[in-house]
Amino acid sequence: MAENGTFEIIDRDGLARIGRFQTPHGVIETPGVMPVVNPNIIVLTPTEMKKLGMQSLITNSYIIRRSRDLSDRAVNEGVHSLVGFDGPIMTDSGTFQSFVYGDIEYGNADMLAFQKSIGSDICTILDIFSTPDDGYDKARAAVEETFQRTRNLPDDGTIYAGTVQGSIYPDLRRRSAMLMSRSGVKYLPIGGVVPMLESYSYSDLVTAIHAAKMKTDFSIPVHLFGGGHPMFLALSVLAGVDMFDSASYIKYARDDRILMPDRTLDLSDLEQMPGWSPIADRYTIAELKDLEREERTKALATHNLFAIFSEISEIKQRIAEQSLRRYVKAKIRSHPYLVDAYRRFLAFRDMEKYEPFSRKTPFYYSDIEERKDPIYRRLRKFCIEEIARSNDTIAIVDQHLVSPVLSMESRLVRSYEESSAIFVKNWNGIPVPIELWDTYPVQQSISSYSSDRGSLHTSLRRLFPKRLVTIIGDHAGAGLPAGRRRFDLEKVRMIARYQFSTGNSGMIFPDDCIVRTSRKTDRIRTVSRGGELIATLRASDGLLTFTLSGAKLLYNAMPGMKSRVKVSDESSAFNLQGKNVFFKFILLSDPEIIPGNDVLVINTSDNLIAVGKATASGREMRQLKRGVAVDVRSGLGQISG
Ligand code: GUN
Repeated sequence: MAENGTFEIIDRDGLARIGRFQTPHGVIETPGVMPVVNPNIIVLTPTEMKKLGMQSLITNSYIIRRSRDLSDRAVNEGVHSLVGFDGPIMTDSGTFQSFVYGDIEYGNADMLAFQKSIGSDICTILDIFSTPDDGYDKARAAVEETFQRTRNLPDDGTIYAGTVQGSIYPDLRRRSAMLMSRSGVKYLPIGGVVPMLESYSYSDLVTAIHAAKMKTDFSIPVHLFGGGHPMFLALSVLAGVDMFDSASYIKYARDDRILMPDRTLDLSDLEQMPGWSPIADRYTIAELKDLEREERTKALATHNLFAIFSEISEIKQRIAEQSLRRYVKAKIRSHPYLVDAYRRFLAFRDMEKYEPFSRKTPFYYSDIEERKDPIYRRLRKFCIEEIARSNDTIAIVDQHLVSPVLSMESRLVRSYEESSAIFVKNWNGIPVPIELWDTYPVQQSISSYSSDRGSLHTSLRRLFPKRLVTIIGDHAGAGLPAGRRRFDLEKVRMIARYQFSTGNSGMIFPDDCIVRTSRKTDRIRTVSRGGELIATLRASDGLLTFTLSGAKLLYNAMPGMKSRVKVSDESSAFNLQGKNVFFKFILLSDPEIIPGNDVLVINTSDNLIAVGKATASGREMRQLKRGVAVDVRSGLGQISG
């Protein structure tokens, strides 16, 4: 069993992740929602909530402590017995009450000691709540004081939650997240956001989440305090939130309101019972409306909680499919302020490092917004830089010559091989060199965009005013500068430059490489040299994976720590034998590693020992502590044959 407070990432889609957080009372799977349970008023019992999908819950230690009866029972029997749940329980500290009702009678140390004494799995510090209306100085003082409250936490295995505050000020959110990540807490809620949620200030919220997230230690789960409405869950997860809590399921039920995936409805407006609702086969609408108040609240709370958990299931499925972005795009249409928030989110440019080169699902290009997708951005930047590498003519391939598969025997390839010009095709507004024709997302995309070669021509002329830009059609290549090159070789070299940001692709694939093409699909399959296989081009995404012989070439072509993961001596003997690299044995790694890309595993003497696929980004390589970091394909000590 993992140590308490460790977080293991199982699957991912950008910053969204499916993870497992270990607590004394079991594992919390993320993303997830903790229903808020008030031990004074139990409407749905934890047993009932478990049946709806609950894995963990949150209750308030301040409310428990203020009641002599609850407090005695909690101290004597433990909080799990008090609320009747044997799974993970997080306790909040009274911060929110002190924000709503003014100062509370207990201090931080006092509240933490109490939470520990009742056996809470995650104990929350008494942070200082900042509202969006607080001025900068006040919000900054709250951040500093909240941090001070983590200063003397004993290292006794307790999981503490240290709240990130900072109001609407991104720099304060960043500072708070950085301080909290270093403080020794193992759980990071983002606080002070309830007023933003209540006023539908989703843009401020997404800004606060993003600022905080990017400065957190990625090995610590991030929780959004109070953010459990199904409308906002998907966007929050995409921005990197792992956990939520929700009192809304019960608050809305008391107000006769019903949660839908994309909105909240008054019960009086409900004409059709949603078929998926767990209460659909228990009551007709008329019966539901006629129920006694208590029973009606319970029925609506059941429905509302299920709506929340269903949304979480959908989000997890989307992460597994790597299509969360597409889901969020559809989801935000339910409220104009969510559209604004999504646009704000799209403007953040620091997401590329966490996006793999390909996704399991095709790239959907449905409108201009797709140009802000990190995969689109990365491809565009690469293509422009590639074109800028030479001074040669730029030849735009006429759209009607753009067939799904570029045959090695085609006239286009022949004229390419007899020319030195850079051949590009228009892929949704990007001048993509034809060497990337088969590579994700160019080949694996579905597009609603009717490519306009005229506009590409104009934009290339603007970008490269000194270059000759021409369009090649049926005459394919007449008048282009003469040259001599092999398309297959140039193609794998360009893909290597794309994947590894290296100019040295000629060293990875020297001139004497033999490139084999599939007879069935006409696509490149393998690259060998001197009778040894170097690399394979994956059929699914047209990206390169390397054998050990290929890894040696990569190693020699790329200096320093580039695409490398250095492991401890304890680990290297195993990796030499082809066993996976675990995060905890990593000593050093290239911060630019892209998840899913091939990496070189080196030992403490900097020698190559294995090659494999990175499961995480360079930053996570240094921060995560549990799980597989490199899925090793082969180790240098393996006996081949
Ligand atoms: N519940 C809702 N918001 C907050 C917050 O900012 N801090 C704490 N501790 N609890 C909350």
